[in-house]
Amino acid sequence: MHNAGSERQPRGAVIWLTGLSGAGKSSLAQALATRLRQRGHRCYVLDGDTLRTGLNADLGFSPAARHENIRRTGEVAALFADAGLLCIAALISPYRADRAAARRACKGSFHEIHVNADLATCETRDPKGLYRRARAGELKAFTGIDAPYEAPEHPELVLNTATHSLPASLDLLLEYVLQQVLPVNSPA
Ligand code: ADX
Repeated sequence: MHNAGSERQPRGAVIWLTGLSGAGKSSLAQALATRLRQRGHRCYVLDGDTLRTGLNADLGFSPAARHENIRRTGEVAALFADAGLLCIAALISPYRADRAAARRACKGSFHEIHVNADLATCETRDPKGLYRRARAGELKAFTGIDAPYEAPEHPELVLNTATHSLPASLDLLLEYVLQQVLPVNSPA
């Protein structure tokens, strides 16, 4: 009988999307899930914005709160992977140490994907108007403005969403999952 605490590698896998707000993480996560489901794979998306309305509703944006946000989400992702699902997480997750801890929690099943768009691009897109509010001083500790983003040093994959369209980035991501993730961790 296996459980989440066992040391074996999970049957599923965790695709962890990290990047600035507005880089395209949520869109890519949902689109990837749709494409994988069409192929018969069971997936679940853990989205930072959604989690912050429930499981992580008590957390703000201080370094300690973000640490706890990533810790909880990493543990939940590990459980999903252990249950045999492909878990796609989309959170800014700005601190390297927190992402490293999530990787450890997911044992060998963690794939770090840098959804890489520069600040100027994200700020121009500003889909939720948050960069404008941060520049106006209405939002404090906003990632990229007055809070740091530590880019991954050794991610499994980098998607340059400033220079590639979303469909082109999705194709690269799907190719990576089909070639590098599913042959090793093959969820139902
Ligand atoms: S994380 O840094 O802790 O990983 P998470 O991905 O859960 O962040 O949530 C980020 C989302 O919260 C953003 O997309 C944005 O909608 C919202 N948000 C509100 N305030 C902030 C802030 N100060 N910094 C970053 N995102 C914020």
